[in-house]
Amino acid sequence: MKDKVREAFRDKYGKNPEIISFAPGRVNIIGEHTDYNEGFVMPAALEQGTYFAGAKNRDKKIRIFSLNLKKEDSWEIEHSRERKGDFSDYLRGILNFLPFLPSSGIDGIVLSNIPIGAGLSSSAAFEISFIFLVSGLFNLKIEPTEIVKIAHHAENEFAGLKCGIMDQFVSVFGKKDHLIFLDTRTMEYEYVPFPFFWEIAVVNSGIKRELTSSQYNRRKEECEEAVKAIKKLFPEVKSLRDVTEDMLFEARKLMNERIYKRAMHVISENRRVFEMKEYLLKNDACMIEKTMKLAHQSLTEDFEVSLPELDFLVDVASSLPYVHGARLTGAGFGGSIVALIQKNHRLDFENTIKNAYRKKFSIEAEVFFSSPSGGAYFERA
Ligand code: GLA
Repeated sequence: MKDKVREAFRDKYGKNPEIISFAPGRVNIIGEHTDYNEGFVMPAALEQGTYFAGAKNRDKKIRIFSLNLKKEDSWEIEHSRERKGDFSDYLRGILNFLPFLPSSGIDGIVLSNIPIGAGLSSSAAFEISFIFLVSGLFNLKIEPTEIVKIAHHAENEFAGLKCGIMDQFVSVFGKKDHLIFLDTRTMEYEYVPFPFFWEIAVVNSGIKRELTSSQYNRRKEECEEAVKAIKKLFPEVKSLRDVTEDMLFEARKLMNERIYKRAMHVISENRRVFEMKEYLLKNDACMIEKTMKLAHQSLTEDFEVSLPELDFLVDVASSLPYVHGARLTGAGFGGSIVALIQKNHRLDFENTIKNAYRKKFSIEAEVFFSSPSGGAYFERA
């Protein structure tokens, strides 16, 4: 990938790039829809991600060619803070939140091997890789937590998704062979070793989420509605993070069944993140599998973000003897499932899943594998 992006840069611009940057996509192992409730998550950075190759230019223009979209976009630096309704809006969003605009133009090429709309944070990787490119080109010293915040703001305010901090955080802080246990309220985190005899399998259902469309933001509002009701009994509560299952039972009569179920998912999911950390540290494969199952059930029944296609993929994956848990990953409404699988079973896993899915839904699933990986970086090309 790195060579490909470097060569494509030379072909297009007739010079060498100065900087190559990379930011990984992510897969969340557990802690879904908890981050915007100030809760806990435990994702991993993927080996797959987004590369930029770039160099400064003299014509005060930012010019980015996407090898995936086979499309170029360019704009004058001083117009960087305007939306255009194109893929470059993510990058303009970034420039909008950087402390200052680049002092010269940029020629860039971008290449990614994370499928778009698969629930694997292709947009966070795109944004963060671009921040690393710009930092490398202009010697900006930006703290890693600041990079996370800039990308998060860009996504929220420029791209319109009222997402939590998980995707941006893991893309910057990912660590090889480890999951990140993150407290999204305090941003404190801990690396949890991933069993070395396992790897992560991701199955893309091929059903694209329309995240910016209302569903995700609607779930967020429902969680806020739950907090409002619970506050009547427990005024100290600031977010669902502060609520226990007992408190929720007490406040049940103050909300309708749908809001109750949304809150129940978030509260039980926060607990499962803690439990999962313990099970991983103890290598308790049986409880890991059970917890993944409960998490998926909760997303299906209480949070209602699954689809028959995702449930089917989870069922097929879970039935395989070398799989130690599977569930939908990311926001849901389509996208991907994640499975924890013993190493050396790639071929069988891929064939079984693809054949079963094709037979049932006539859709081609996309399967890929990764071990937890390192975070974003740049290097001089
Ligand atoms: C999307 C968001 C994340 C998180 C997940 C659901 O990926 O970007 O912040 O809320 O959904 O866990």
